[in-house]
Amino acid sequence: MCGIVGYTGRQDATGIIIEGLRRLEYRGYDSAGICTISDNKASIRRSEGKLANLERLLVTQPVTGSIGIGHTRWATHGRPSEINAHPHQAGSVVVVHNGIIENYLQLRDQLQAAGHVFKSETDTEVISHLIEERRKVSGDFEGAVREALQLLKGAYALCIVCADEPDLLIAAKLGSPMVVGLGDGEFFVASDIPAILSHTRSMIFIEDGEMVVFKGGKAQFSTVAGIPLQKTPRHIDWSAHMAEKGGYRHFMLKEIFEQPRAVRDTIAGRLREEQGDVYLENLSMTDAELQGVSRICIIACGTSWHAALVGKFLIEEHCRVPVEVDIASEFRYRNPVVDKSTLVILISQSGETADTLAAMRESRRRGGRCVAICNVVDSSIAREADGVVYTHAGPEIGVASTKAFVTQLVALYLFTVRLGRSRGSIDCEQGRKLIASLVRVPALMEETLKLNDQVEKVARNYMAARDFLYLGRGMNYPIALEGALKLKEISYIHAEGYAAGEMKHGPIALIDEHMPVVVLVPKGANYEKVCSNMEEVIARGGRVIAVCSEGDAEVRNKVEVALEVPLDGEDVSPIILSIPMQLLAYHIAVLKGTDVDQPRNLAKSVTVE
Ligand code: AGP
Repeated sequence: MCGIVGYTGRQDATGIIIEGLRRLEYRGYDSAGICTISDNKASIRRSEGKLANLERLLVTQPVTGSIGIGHTRWATHGRPSEINAHPHQAGSVVVVHNGIIENYLQLRDQLQAAGHVFKSETDTEVISHLIEERRKVSGDFEGAVREALQLLKGAYALCIVCADEPDLLIAAKLGSPMVVGLGDGEFFVASDIPAILSHTRSMIFIEDGEMVVFKGGKAQFSTVAGIPLQKTPRHIDWSAHMAEKGGYRHFMLKEIFEQPRAVRDTIAGRLREEQGDVYLENLSMTDAELQGVSRICIIACGTSWHAALVGKFLIEEHCRVPVEVDIASEFRYRNPVVDKSTLVILISQSGETADTLAAMRESRRRGGRCVAICNVVDSSIAREADGVVYTHAGPEIGVASTKAFVTQLVALYLFTVRLGRSRGSIDCEQGRKLIASLVRVPALMEETLKLNDQVEKVARNYMAARDFLYLGRGMNYPIALEGALKLKEISYIHAEGYAAGEMKHGPIALIDEHMPVVVLVPKGANYEKVCSNMEEVIARGGRVIAVCSEGDAEVRNKVEVALEVPLDGEDVSPIILSIPMQLLAYHIAVLKGTDVDQPRNLAKSVTVE
């Protein structure tokens, strides 16, 4: 989730761009850069690390010009480094990009065969070479951009300048956010409103497949193919504080609603639908090595441990490899059995959790091979692991993990397909089916997010409860645990997640009319059994909030509240069921007035034991 800023007008571009990048700081980043055009020369400055490093560089090596582009990078392809920082240049063409180009490897091969020399590991650099290649042929910069964009697969929000066209700035959008700000004879482009709100409140949100050419004090909107478009500006009356949250009240709610995009980004470029397989660019394990794995340990903490529990179900079901799941702080102080045929998977959003990092080091000391599932490129755990499957959730600001969690589940689905295909336990057809289920997930999530208003109403009726019980079975048992943790950590209400089948072994003693019981009961293998557990709760006066499949009148007629989700099986139920869990916890916490984004006593990353 990078940030881009562009400017063209009468003012000096550098100050406006740097200020814009600073206001995108909440998006997180590991490097930054800027390019301005003056006297037909492109001046580029880039630096690794925080924006302050770029600002220091500009003190000693300033750039000038009234047209320019800037970028903050949240690495997805290629380590955080100066060489991978944007802007990227090829000849006279300079580009900044937010998004993922899925076919960049093929395009790079073609361009290298044509003599292009690449310096970085990024997908973005391909775009600058592609435009330059076409511009050399046609001599027409705008036309070259249009041709190049039509060859790209994936997502982009781009700002492009050309040293030979000093008063021309082009912006284009497909799948990544972009907003255009209109000033008095000047124009602003950014990934998000906060970057330009201090300069203008008149904005245009261009749509996917559209682009805008700024030239001679005018903005020409069109489709990438060249069909002119008329655009009506909107007046944005947000405060700067609101704008950082995209208009949402809290980062947590913004991140809950970002989940479809986060899942799309985590899947992007990794599906090989034809072969019923996936491509995990940094896994660093051959088929033979995957075949040599005799058992798997998945180790994590907190919410990431819940993802690990889902991973156990997936891998054992589809790959027939025994999986143990461990809490990192327990694993590291036992005398765990790990040897060279053990694959140890470490799941960590931050990549800095002390216990998980220590567990990985202990595993490696014992000869285990370690793969990390991580959301932060080049974090400690990612750097020290033998291989990494990155989630592309983008920076997660809310302490309570949401989008990072669901993308961990997606990463586990992807890994399961790869492992199963390498070992032959998943054939091509089965692989295609699993991939098809994953491809449907973002749309199912968008459908499920429509429950938000209903959940807000439900929260009002249950916010006074002192204890909650969450029940689930099979792959949804970990989601019951996750639902309970979400409620605990942001509303401070005590909650327990339990395997539904365990009710009779103790928790049923808790049930009375004061006890809300959230029951995860989608159609699927465990449906009848969970229904009977639910009946036991109802028979004892428990207040049931059921999360069930859309149209399940049988459940709806039995319970106090039915939250109906678009699920007709259990393939991807853990991902979809997570959303009502997150929303219920969020709305109860808001009603209780807690600090939702930074709950008491908690830290986003527990880097100490
Ligand atoms: C989740 O909502 C919590 N913030 C916490 O349990 C978190 O999942 C845990 O600390 C692990 O963090 P990690 O994924 O960054 O390793």
